[in-house]
Amino acid sequence: MNVAVFGCGYVGLTCAVGLAELGHTVVGVDIDEKKLALLKEGKSPLFEEGLEATMQRQMTAGQLTFTHDGESAIQKSDVVMCAVSLPGERTDFGAVMQVAQLFARLADGKKLFVNKSTVPVGSAEKIGEIIAPSQIVANPEFLQEGTALRNFLHPERVVVGLNDDDENVKEKMKELYCYDEEIPFVFTSLRNAELIKYASNVFLATKISFANELANLCEATGGDVQEVVRGMGFDSRIGSDFLQAGIGFGGSCLPKSVQTLLDNGKDLDCDLPLFEAVKQVNESRVDTLFSRLEQTLGSLQDKKIAVWGATFKPNTNDIREAPSLKVLQKLIDARAQICVFDPVASLDGLDVATADDLYAGLQDAEALLILTEWDVFKNPDFVKMKSLMNQPLVVDGRNIFDPAVMKDQGFQYVSVGRA
Ligand code: UGA
Repeated sequence: MNVAVFGCGYVGLTCAVGLAELGHTVVGVDIDEKKLALLKEGKSPLFEEGLEATMQRQMTAGQLTFTHDGESAIQKSDVVMCAVSLPGERTDFGAVMQVAQLFARLADGKKLFVNKSTVPVGSAEKIGEIIAPSQIVANPEFLQEGTALRNFLHPERVVVGLNDDDENVKEKMKELYCYDEEIPFVFTSLRNAELIKYASNVFLATKISFANELANLCEATGGDVQEVVRGMGFDSRIGSDFLQAGIGFGGSCLPKSVQTLLDNGKDLDCDLPLFEAVKQVNESRVDTLFSRLEQTLGSLQDKKIAVWGATFKPNTNDIREAPSLKVLQKLIDARAQICVFDPVASLDGLDVATADDLYAGLQDAEALLILTEWDVFKNPDFVKMKSLMNQPLVVDGRNIFDPAVMKDQGFQYVSVGRA
């Protein structure tokens, strides 16, 4: 099939590369000339496992190209996949509408419009009206940053929302993904597909907020949240994923999904107290961690604080909505001297010093704050750390160390949910 993918951000670029890998001829469309120049040179703007190498291979094979010319991309395609977003927008609806309007002008009724962007419930129906008689498909994505291409090539399910039960469209979607029969295709209505996306993200967020609230209870009762969630996770009805307590969920997806459903509920006069609590619990995490630091050190003014980790999770260079940004802002407000080490994040524009390696920022530090659980942080040279720091205080927002080991190594170790 000839596929045009609009938007070369996380979702769009991964889909474009993945669809080329599945054998389609793909053109990625973006309005950002700087990004396009990079992509045309075979360079991925994303730090994402396997993406750049696969992208280069598909470009060399002639299966994947990039352009700013949306009109000709639509004209040459059987399927238009929409994965656009506008910076700062609450949801991606405005950007999607622009693509839909262009599509409506150029499509002939035979082309398929597949929406991947996360839009408010009911948007696909509105797009469907604009692009009629062409068909709209609501096809939410479930990629996780860091493993996005792997998730695309080996999905656990494909959700396909349709306007009506059109067999032709169903067949086209199966042809588009050409996965084997093991992978369930969930054919449903447009609205259900949109809701499945939000419900999935908000459920994951709920698990995290549950673990974080449990961490508070563990601290109060003398328990250890790591042990408690491990004990829970063996129950297959519960599962062990997304029960890691810490400084809360960030990124461009989970916080936005929770907020969008809350906004939807408000507009529709539908109370959603559980989702509100998920948000509140999450927002309190940074304050909780920060007050631990203040309780231990008193005023932070002019004190040197080393920070490990800035990205919203490991294995990505993404710092959007990262909990670390709130912590850094609090440290700036408290007039601490901050030095951050992150293996890949760029912190240009933030008023903080950065270190080139794990140890460079530790010299004379009064404390080390751990904000992302990168693997490279997990086996440090403790002796070297202690020799560099002014006092051996580690405040760990991600529970990466064993408290007993830290005690043996002579650190004052403050972590989450472990009395
Ligand atoms: C999330 C979903 O996991 C994907 O399924 C979805 O497709 C994507 O949003 C999206 O809507 O595009 P992602 O934003 O890449 O993916 O990140 P997650 O792996 O879900 O992590 C989100 C945040 O939760 C991170 O800050 C992470 O540190 C935190 N987290 C995760 C925890 O605090 N505890 C956990 O147990 C798991």
